[in-house]
Amino acid sequence: MLYENILRPWLFRMDPEEAHERMMSMLRTAQALPGGKALVRSAWGGCEEGLETRVFGLKFPNPIGLAAGFDKDGRVFSMMGALGFGFVEVGSVTLRPQPGNPKPRIFRLPEYEALVNRLGFNNLGAEAAQRRLKSFGRPDFPLGINLGLNKDCPHDKAHEEYAQTFSILEPYGDYFVVNVSSPNTLGLRDLQERIHLEKILSAIGEVNRSKKTLLVKLSPDLSDELLPSLVELIMQSASGVIATNTTIARPGIPSDEQERRGGLSGAPLRARSTELIRKIYKLSGGKLPIIGVGGVFTGGDAYEKIRAGASLVQLYTGLIYRGPAAARRIQKELLAWLKHGGFKSVAEAVGTEPAQ
Ligand SMILES: Cc1cc2nc3c(=O)[nH]c(=O)nc-3n(C[C@H](O)[C@H](O)[C@H](O)COP(=O)(O)O)c2cc1C
Repeated sequence: MLYENILRPWLFRMDPEEAHERMMSMLRTAQALPGGKALVRSAWGGCEEGLETRVFGLKFPNPIGLAAGFDKDGRVFSMMGALGFGFVEVGSVTLRPQPGNPKPRIFRLPEYEALVNRLGFNNLGAEAAQRRLKSFGRPDFPLGINLGLNKDCPHDKAHEEYAQTFSILEPYGDYFVVNVSSPNTLGLRDLQERIHLEKILSAIGEVNRSKKTLLVKLSPDLSDELLPSLVELIMQSASGVIATNTTIARPGIPSDEQERRGGLSGAPLRARSTELIRKIYKLSGGKLPIIGVGGVFTGGDAYEKIRAGASLVQLYTGLIYRGPAAARRIQKELLAWLKHGGFKSVAEAVGTEPAQ
């Protein structure tokens, strides 16, 4: 309630990117203070018992993760774990640092509980991320690293740059994500075509000496025709899928509110992302682990994605609207939903929704 009544109105009066910077600096300060993490954990965070789950051979204290884009440079992941996230994905990290698109580039649509962003992979680059991740050490929960692509990288070099970025960061992540689905880098989503993706996955495969888990993050705007062959490729050359990134569609948003270019996230994306999870689960016969993301605000939203086929879920926009208690609240609600459905574990509920 403190967030909804005091902190959020104060933050929402600011430009969204400035509000994000303020939040990051509060999180960093608290993270650096002796006892800071323990204090935050007891005020908002922590993990419920009974939600532990094992996916990709990794142990997750709970299945609710922080999606890529919030902690692009890997500054506050350990604090986000204290806030109750069962795993955190940092990035997207590109090989070279880049400033991203001109500001303003994040917009709120509060009446739809949505955001539109066109950040364009603003980040400090792979070497800076490597230094930071090295200095922090490994957290006690799985850490994902999301790999992006520099704006000036030509398509025929994409596989080399993804592989180089991966090599620089390989020792520091438990899983890695090939992000070919951001709508804010011109032409990036074309890399979801089988011929390009195959090259990227095989280039990373060649340098993946420690056999780190490799996932592909997909766009909700993918056509149904492309999906079967993509799922087949990912099953051969990677370990799982993240569904989904933001959308360039504007589902349920009236046309006079649609002038902002960029990727839409939050509540209006929820149904489409769940639909894609359902399709991927069916196409793969339940054999390809899915991280479901898009419009998760409550335990009910997480449960819906899990029953559609997600083994884990993530959120970003839900955190902005619901605040620091979001992860713990979602855990509690999810536990109640699992109990209500008669499931003894998260894994037991995966893909169990009745046929649609
Ligand atoms: C401001 C913002 C920045 C984002 N940056 C990234 C990014 O760098 N890489 C990425 O893979 N996804 C990025 N995303 C997408 C999220 O990880 C997530 O896939 C999407 O927002 C849908 O989830 P949500 O509805 O819970 O926000 C970003 C989203 C937002 C709102």
